[in-house]
Amino acid sequence: MITPALRLMRAPAARTMATAATTKAPRIKKFQIYRWNPDTPEKKPELKTYEVNLSDCGPMVLDALLKIKNEQDATLTFRRSCREGICGSCAMNIDGNNTLACLCRIDTNLSKPKKIYPLPHMFVVRDLVPDLTHFYKQYKSIEPYLQRSEVPADGKENLQSIADRKKLDGLYECILCACCSTSCPSYWWNSAEYLGPAVLMQAFRWMIDSRDEHGDHRRDRLQNSMSLYRCHTIMNCSRTCPKGLNPGLAIAKIKKSMSFTA
Ligand code: SF4
Ligand code: SF4
Ligand code: FES
Repeated sequence: MITPALRLMRAPAARTMATAATTKAPRIKKFQIYRWNPDTPEKKPELKTYEVNLSDCGPMVLDALLKIKNEQDATLTFRRSCREGICGSCAMNIDGNNTLACLCRIDTNLSKPKKIYPLPHMFVVRDLVPDLTHFYKQYKSIEPYLQRSEVPADGKENLQSIADRKKLDGLYECILCACCSTSCPSYWWNSAEYLGPAVLMQAFRWMIDSRDEHGDHRRDRLQNSMSLYRCHTIMNCSRTCPKGLNPGLAIAKIKKSMSFTA
């Protein structure tokens, strides 16, 4: 007969067994990550391998990178902030695709290592951090802000109809992660002068904003052989956008609007 005293004595043992039963078996996946340190320029970049237990890790690649940095190698360098696809800072090349590490699920094929590089064809600051200085300069060059000659009648807001506001859908959501521009072959070879899909889509966003009055000026600035017309409609940009946007289509619409105003 089990007395109340005996029941109490057995309880911890039962709890231990239950805990053991719920402890997940380790699932080890390899991550091969591009490493380069500007402080040791004589050392060539290398792919360094880390092993991560997926049973004890969040589902996204950014979770694995944070786990590696916290538990194995504090020198691993990458950008991240929001961890939910809003800030654009964790853009990198994962298994050959430019994407956001925080939106990219870790596949569960344990026999295949995950390969992670910085965004392609950019100068590297360190490890997975690309130098975006030129990209931001190009963004600044399109004057990405509202331009009007006159202030609104009431001196307050520039109003817009619901229909005109709708025209900005699919454009304003861009988080400037640069995944599209760095997947574009034309941008790889001509980035000194070609603005690339991310920046051109933002140029278009301001051209079609009903509140902006400087559309002609914006189009004039693209009227040369390099800024816009290096786009050959390869569409890598739209395929890779982690936000599901279509910069290739925006570029085509700029070209169309320029052909009617030229
Ligand atoms: S269009 Fe997409 S891929 Fe390109 S910068 Fe914007 S969010 Fe990133
Ligand atoms: S559509 Fe244009 S911008 Fe997009 S990848 Fe192709 S060439 Fe580059
Ligand atoms: S951390 Fe902000 S988009 Fe990934």
